[in-house]
Amino acid sequence: MREPICDLPAPCHIAIIMDGNGRWAKKRNLPRTAGHAAGGEAFRRIAHHCRKLGVKYLTVYAFSTENWKRSEDEVAGIMRLLGNYLKEALSDMEKNRVRFRFFGDLSRLSPQLQKLCREAEEKSLDYDVQVNFCLNYGGRDEIVKATRKIAADVQAGRLQAEQITEQLFSDYLYSKDVPDPELIIRPSGEMRTSNFLLWQSAYSEYVFMDVLWPDFSEEHLEQAIAEYHKRNRRFGGA
Ligand code: IPE
Ligand code: IPE
Ligand code: MG
Repeated sequence: MREPICDLPAPCHIAIIMDGNGRWAKKRNLPRTAGHAAGGEAFRRIAHHCRKLGVKYLTVYAFSTENWKRSEDEVAGIMRLLGNYLKEALSDMEKNRVRFRFFGDLSRLSPQLQKLCREAEEKSLDYDVQVNFCLNYGGRDEIVKATRKIAADVQAGRLQAEQITEQLFSDYLYSKDVPDPELIIRPSGEMRTSNFLLWQSAYSEYVFMDVLWPDFSEEHLEQAIAEYHKRNRRFGGA
């Protein structure tokens, strides 16, 4: 057995932009969907390892509001993999005891997929290690939707404009009741947020890594956590 890379406790909430599946497939002359399938395997491995390290919340970016720009074939392939994964998760629910939540506008997904998402959420309510799947998720879309709901509540007289605070705003987001992520990891070498957790990442530590998501290993996760512990988080203080 290898020595752990980092002895310090893992952050309570880790978020990951699971990027690089397409490039991984291209390097192997495989269709992009094969990259997404390999990305799914990486997710299973990393979710398991997060749990072992004591991470309470794992949020993963699986499909963005912009990813509909891809070919019909690729989108269908990703949705099929997600459906298969959720079916498997539903049948292993009692064994794995993971709570599922979905961040994003699910109304654009197929009715079958929406049903699987709802079932996974409902059946796992009592478990406390939580995976948040960002599906048809965009940080801007999340903020606009929250704003719309707040405006409707003000208009209906349920809320006064003066009552709108940062805390209240957070309660209108998909991430209601979830603490902000301390650490956000983006593999694949890209250094941008791509519309991920715009509100919640105000003081998150970013770790960018030059590895494609399907190749992301338990060691990479521990390296990212070790890097996180080297940071001096000041939250604006001196
Ligand atoms: C991330 O991998 C998965 C999704 C966005 C659905 P990509 O498919 O973006 O992989 P690259 O960035 O093209 O390599
Ligand atoms: C972000 O990756 C979305 C997901 C990983 C689901 P993208 O591949 O879509 O982001 P860009 O296009 O490189 O910014
Ligand atoms: Mg990408």
